[in-house]
Amino acid sequence: MAQPHEPAAPEAATATPTSAAGTRPTALGTAPAGPPLRIGMVGYAFMGAAHSQGWRTVGHVFDLPRTPHLTAICGRDATAVRAAAERHGWAHAETDWRALIARDDIDLVDICTPGDSHAEIAVAALDAGKHVLCEKPLANSVAEAEAMTRAAERARAHDRIAMVGFNYRRVPATALAHRMIAEGRLGTLRHVRVTYLQDWLTDPDFPLTWRLRREHAGSGSLGDLGAHIVDLAQYLAGEPLAGVSALTETFVRHRPLPGTPTTGLNASRTLHTVDRGQVTVDDAALFTGRFTSGALASFEATRYATGRKNALRIELNGEHGSLAFDLERLNELWFHDGTEPADRAGFRRILVTEPDHPYLDAWWPPGHALGYEHTFVHQARDLVLAVAEGRTPEPSFADGLQVQRVLAAVEESAAKNSVYTPIAV
Ligand SMILES: NC(=O)c1ccc[n+]([C@@H]2O[C@H](COP(=O)([O-])OP(=O)(O)OC[C@H]3O[C@@H](n4cnc5c(N)ncnc54)[C@H](O)[C@@H]3O)[C@@H](O)[C@H]2O)c1
Repeated sequence: MAQPHEPAAPEAATATPTSAAGTRPTALGTAPAGPPLRIGMVGYAFMGAAHSQGWRTVGHVFDLPRTPHLTAICGRDATAVRAAAERHGWAHAETDWRALIARDDIDLVDICTPGDSHAEIAVAALDAGKHVLCEKPLANSVAEAEAMTRAAERARAHDRIAMVGFNYRRVPATALAHRMIAEGRLGTLRHVRVTYLQDWLTDPDFPLTWRLRREHAGSGSLGDLGAHIVDLAQYLAGEPLAGVSALTETFVRHRPLPGTPTTGLNASRTLHTVDRGQVTVDDAALFTGRFTSGALASFEATRYATGRKNALRIELNGEHGSLAFDLERLNELWFHDGTEPADRAGFRRILVTEPDHPYLDAWWPPGHALGYEHTFVHQARDLVLAVAEGRTPEPSFADGLQVQRVLAAVEESAAKNSVYTPIAV
């Protein structure tokens, strides 16, 4: 099977020595460092904090040819951005992303804002000679993603690179799954089954935040959660989706405007008029898909799966075996080797904490588990190496554009009574 998305050999991360006792030092930082890689980050809330953690930590764990410096952080509120700089360890604060890009002490711009600003910031940063890391989904539309990919191609001619923040590729267990599939352990792929389930919208009085407005988020669960599982499915399958058939739904169409008091609302609903605005994105997206090889896939992305917090689950079935992963148990990968004798075959758990596993060589002794935040450290590591080696990192903006095309095909199919919709090339 073709493997166009081969990772940047994360398993060869560092050559951390193993002591006779089998325990390893965890933070060496002994590699001769090249010039620092000076980071400027836009946005300082959820992803801003997660990326800050990644940039702060990566040079203390992995031996890198260039050391990231947390040079400047940008937000629109001067007081809040200064507080964020202090909290997360950034040297300077800016209140306009254009000023951040104009700084000559910034090498890489890290975009952690909602999708409505990704294209403008990324294109400006690349054209100004910066490397770019952009959060997912790459953009709010295919047209924006195409413009960003063209900017990345222009920048490539000047040795500047661009990457999308699909961090679930950087869970050691998913990277191991990718390695095993690339080695042919599953044989010809037949099925990819993926769900990404959250439940933070089950309360109808949850406010109308930017994630529920099309002009800011592009789409709802589809672009937020669906983008992750489309990328992960294509990455693991090693091939793109060829077409989809989809259903989307918006269950709660009006929600309280942010800042509207809703406490006690249920008891006093008839007495109070709460200011509500329209939800303009999907709440849930379900779709089936066909890979170019003929393998079949199913996807479900929702914020209404009561009791499910961050349940990204993927199972792949091939002619020789199966793999299964659950983000809520992210140190585990389940493998069924279908070539074993039937009387002893069955799914078994691989605890992905061995030094031979992707990224693990630099971390703790076996069995000392990693978590969500480590994916951002690994993302920073892979990007620093790509910058230092002058190669296009993965997932590239072209990979992000491919995901965007799948999202657009899902919306088109859902609007046409689930008609099978080919993915535009
Ligand atoms: N990789 C992941 O697992 C993951 C998880 C959550 C969100 N995301 C993505 O990260 C991005 C941001 O999401 P979030 O959860 O961090 O959102 P958030 O609401 O927590 O933070 C957004 C930040 O962007 C800032 N901002 C918005 N517009 C701005 C502008 N024009 N200039 C400067 N700052 C601006 C806000 O002030 C805020 O600091 C989105 O694209 C989202 O899809 C990725």
